Amino acid sequence: MSSKAWGGRFEAQPEDWVDDFNASIEFDKNLINQDIQGSIAHATMLANQHIITQDEAQSIIQGLKNIQKDFNEGNIEFKASLEDIHLNIEHELIQRIGETGGKLHTGRSRNDQVATDMHLYTKEEVQNIIELIKSFQHEIIKLAEEHVDTIMPGYTHLQRAQPISFAHHVMTYFWMLERDKGRFNDSLKRIDISPLGAAALSGTTHPIDRHETQALLDFANIYENSLDAVSDRDYIIETLHNISLTMVHLSRFAEEIIFWSTDEAKFITLSDAFSTGSSIMPQKKNPDMAELIRGKVGRTTGHLMSMLVTLKGLPLAYNKDLQEDKEGLFDAIHTVKGSLRIFEGMIASMTVNTDRLSETVKKDFSNATELADYLVSKGVPFRTAHEIVGKIVLNCIHKGIYLLDVPLSEYQAQHSSINEDIYDYLNPENCLKRRKSYGSTGQDSVKHQLNVAKSLLA
Ligand code: ARG
Repeated sequence: MSSKAWGGRFEAQPEDWVDDFNASIEFDKNLINQDIQGSIAHATMLANQHIITQDEAQSIIQGLKNIQKDFNEGNIEFKASLEDIHLNIEHELIQRIGETGGKLHTGRSRNDQVATDMHLYTKEEVQNIIELIKSFQHEIIKLAEEHVDTIMPGYTHLQRAQPISFAHHVMTYFWMLERDKGRFNDSLKRIDISPLGAAALSGTTHPIDRHETQALLDFANIYENSLDAVSDRDYIIETLHNISLTMVHLSRFAEEIIFWSTDEAKFITLSDAFSTGSSIMPQKKNPDMAELIRGKVGRTTGHLMSMLVTLKGLPLAYNKDLQEDKEGLFDAIHTVKGSLRIFEGMIASMTVNTDRLSETVKKDFSNATELADYLVSKGVPFRTAHEIVGKIVLNCIHKGIYLLDVPLSEYQAQHSSINEDIYDYLNPENCLKRRKSYGSTGQDSVKHQLNVAKSLLA
């Protein structure tokens, strides 16, 4: 008998280098636990349906458990000539328990088998990602709670715009991650489905019970169409998309961390434990972790594009192209999990330079809108107020001073309604205090926002 599972029909064997090209074992050995879990459920169902005996099922299940243990202890070497995890395990099983091992594949195909493995794997990993997001969100809340009163410049176009609370700024990432979590949770509806029993494409003549394996594998739902069951990779694309968007959010945050830690900004100081040095410039301390996270969006987005293109134009049902779904997904999951963990550690250990931040908003024009609002409170139409303040700012720029340095006489020359109270009004702290609109950066609003966020995580 040939060592290939399909030996019967073949008169020649591929050479090793052809086998290597065809094989997926190098990466799908990652699925060993899911593959064995799926096979145990299948064997249990086969016995309950009297397709094999209970004794045969017991011997298969024990054999599978031993293989799993031996592999996890590093005592099994899988072979490329046996192509993938499914055939390697089956081969090993038959070696160990004899012909009975050959009964496991009754009423099943590698097509529904691999789909089952991938559904189990993706479900578990999406749940892991959700937990890591939650943990990161807790850290963001902790950071925000310490800095409700820390004032920093808010930017548009990366130009100083208006003073904001540091807490308000970082909480933006909490909400991005909250939406990411929502997308991952929602996707579980489409991941948590059992394809097992669809067999190659058309179902099977054996009296299998797909609902039993669905229940044994704890899948919430079942594919209604056997062709769909073996050819659907939407859930993988969806997961790659959700990972890519999470990575985009992390990279936006990473970019801010990088900017905030420059000598130009000095808004934060990263811990040495999350930074690296230079091999030539002794003074350097580089934000490598943040840069890597920013950089890794390239890979996750690439994996998403690659899977979209792989699926495009693919006829029903299974095609070997689908083997290409694995490496990208494995890498994307590894990447987003690593990035979430690193980011959490990075913000937990960084120092926020509160003095530097409050100094910064005193040496800019981020309180210019306040001056316009002040004039509006005196009855001046906003458009006119905008024009007046624009002129005052231009004068300041010419003189190299800021709004708090302008003498009252000059203010009054611009508009008679400006009084001594303007200096208090323009103080960045008061700029924040006056912002009471819902969801704004005012201290009270931010405290409310933090309460809402905490209740969502509770
Ligand atoms: N290694 C294959 C994959 O990952 C398993 C399914 C193979 N099915 C087949 N009909 N050749 O997609």
